[in-house]
Amino acid sequence: MINIPKGTKDVLPADSYKWQYVEEKARQVARLYGLREIRTPVFEYTELFSRGVGETTDVVTKEMYTFLDKGNRSVTLKPEGTAGVARSFIENGLYGTPMPLKMYYIIPAFRYERPQAGRLREFHQFGAEVYGSAAPDTDAEVIALAHDFIASLGLKAKLRINSIGCKKCRKAFNDALKEYFRPRLGEMCPDCRARFDKNPMRMLDCKVPACKAIAAGAPTILDYLCDDCKEHFAAVQKYLQIAGIPYEIDPGIVRGLDYYTRTVFEFVSEEIGAQGTVLGGGRYDGLIEEIGGPSTPAVGFAAGLERLLLLMEKSGASFPAAPAPVVYIAGMDAACREKAFEIAAVLRRAGVPCEVDHMERSLKAQFKYADKLQAKYTAVIGGNELQEGVMDVKNMSDSSRERVPFADAVGYFAEK
Ligand code: HAM
Repeated sequence: MINIPKGTKDVLPADSYKWQYVEEKARQVARLYGLREIRTPVFEYTELFSRGVGETTDVVTKEMYTFLDKGNRSVTLKPEGTAGVARSFIENGLYGTPMPLKMYYIIPAFRYERPQAGRLREFHQFGAEVYGSAAPDTDAEVIALAHDFIASLGLKAKLRINSIGCKKCRKAFNDALKEYFRPRLGEMCPDCRARFDKNPMRMLDCKVPACKAIAAGAPTILDYLCDDCKEHFAAVQKYLQIAGIPYEIDPGIVRGLDYYTRTVFEFVSEEIGAQGTVLGGGRYDGLIEEIGGPSTPAVGFAAGLERLLLLMEKSGASFPAAPAPVVYIAGMDAACREKAFEIAAVLRRAGVPCEVDHMERSLKAQFKYADKLQAKYTAVIGGNELQEGVMDVKNMSDSSRERVPFADAVGYFAEK
């Protein structure tokens, strides 16, 4: 017996409609906001992520599925969607197309993390990326999209926002952080000691309890924002208010990836345990240049689909009904089943989902199966019906019956 790899999950036939529902909601809201889909490969050269996502992040240092291909090139299964989109933007010269360029994707992503509820090694994201606008109303529009997506699923999650400033104010903040952490370094984990030199802001995101406790007293970025960043953050909030989107400011949000500048945000639910962040994102004005493209401001987010589905189950949000055939056509014997097969072929071509017996079951067993499939109608063809050219059709919701000539089947069921 070969088992599924740790931290991965099958989506079984009985559940896949739930995924399709969430994905369709994502596509709908993307259409409403004028985003078009972009598809990039599941793997990229490793360097894209080490440079794009950041050398000091947990994602890059600990969690990547990296391997050498047969040509000895280091490739990595994408741990997130943003870096691949940025690579494609540069490589395909999309900066030459009208701005802003609005894109979305629905992708599997891979991180070698310790699996738990809401944390997997293969998970799925709905992501949105908007390129070319540095304006605060663009941040607010992207956040509004995220908000509307979550709301369209009947879910509630708290929006928390923060600004982590630009290169300019980050320098002053990093100096302040170093001053704060320096005397406490001895009590901190080896990772944090390395982060201290390379990227002190990462220390605010450490998951080790002792480091977390120390980080709780650290200076907050909001006290170090430059005037431009302050103004930008205030304007983002103004536009959120205009769009009627409630938010809280949480100076503790720094995000786990290095490319962010200015606005960062998360939608969090307390109903699904420790992994409550169902969606995260922010502005990343430096990434495209960092990986070799022309300076291009950008803002985006990604939602974790497993976490959203978990939240839907936990909060009792409703899914649409599972798909079911309109009609199950039961045949009494071989000749009747042949007729059923013929009518089914015609019905399906007319767009009517229907089922027939493939197991040579008795009529009784066929009815039982039709019931399990939750067919809306059961049609029976017995010896008499076959002679008369009619089906005996039963409406399963009220048990009413009608005799429907074979020739009228399409007209009859197309309306149902
Ligand atoms: P992220 O915060 O690393 O951001 O991931 C976004 C979302 O993916 C998380 O909020 C969570 O719902 C889900 N997620 C992350 N890791 C896992 C996991 N191991 N298992 C299950 N779900 C997970 C990004 O990935 C950025 N690329 C978002 C972004 C786009 N920023 C700008 N544009």
